[in-house]
Amino acid sequence: MRRARLYFMLAFRNNSRSPNQVLVGVFDILRGRGFHIEIGIAERMLLRPEELSVNHDLYILKSHTDLWLSLAGVLHLQGARLLNPYLPCIAAQNKIMTARRLHAAGVPVPRSWVTGNLNLLSVVAAERPLVMKPFDGRRGNGVHIVNEPRQLASVPSPRRPVLVQEFVPGSGEELKVYVIGSEVFAARQSSAIHGKCAKNGKSLQRIPCPVSDEVRRIALRCGEVSGLGLYGLDMIEGLDGPVVVDLNYFPSYRGVPEAAPLVADYIEAYAFEDFPRLTPVETAAAAGQ
Ligand SMILES: Nc1ncnc2c1ncn2[C@@H]1O[C@H](COP(=O)(O)OP(=O)(O)O)[C@@H](O)[C@H]1O
Ligand SMILES: [Mg+2]
Repeated sequence: MRRARLYFMLAFRNNSRSPNQVLVGVFDILRGRGFHIEIGIAERMLLRPEELSVNHDLYILKSHTDLWLSLAGVLHLQGARLLNPYLPCIAAQNKIMTARRLHAAGVPVPRSWVTGNLNLLSVVAAERPLVMKPFDGRRGNGVHIVNEPRQLASVPSPRRPVLVQEFVPGSGEELKVYVIGSEVFAARQSSAIHGKCAKNGKSLQRIPCPVSDEVRRIALRCGEVSGLGLYGLDMIEGLDGPVVVDLNYFPSYRGVPEAAPLVADYIEAYAFEDFPRLTPVETAAAAGQ
């Protein structure tokens, strides 16, 4: 019986010297269970898209870069299995599609607008503070707050489409919510929009906190509607309850206790779902050969 082959599509971590510790743990656990694991950072390789073929049983898309997403598409079109699945990842990466999708599923999200002409926003901006964010943004890059219409003039003209959301007033903190299948975790962090140190490449501190029934229900609903199993949400606890302002596939799981074994279990279950010929016992035996 051959060993199941997993390929991890990883991000080039520019401002970090150490690899993501959760991932290191996941690799160790899965290797110990007999999986064959390969990892790759597309940005550090020279690849030929027309020669890329499916050589692994499961591709795990951890990176959010346009390059890895494009190559994931190349593999998907050839029938590769991806975790998270390819189409849900593409959709989640697009904040405009996500806004509509979550709203339609009854998830509390801010009202939003899109335009290619910021002048058209002045009426909207006169009525409420706004947050503008690149439709495919990450890590708070390019996010602007517009408190009043005259501030629109100082927002740099976006090169990429932006999603404009109403600003959800909160306590100055946000909830980072992490989901692994049906397990939901949360941590409080001072709102990234106010945080200064995130800009220096340092991460804002996260304090793990209990998950309320409402946050759990909203978080799991986001998974159902997005088709993601490993994902994270940014929520602001507004006056009317938690509001989802962002959804990401395969987040860092930073600060989530036991994230590595849970993510490893999820990947293992997902890998075997479609592989009746492989069983955990058999792969463990194969690993020992
Ligand atoms: N509608 C909003 N109201 C209040 N704060 C927001 C809103 N949208 C985003 N933020 C704040 O800005 C941060 C970055 O925005 P987000 O949508 O998460 O973009 P990114 O994909 O870059 O992480 C969020 O973590 C949150 O603190
Ligand atoms: Mg975010």
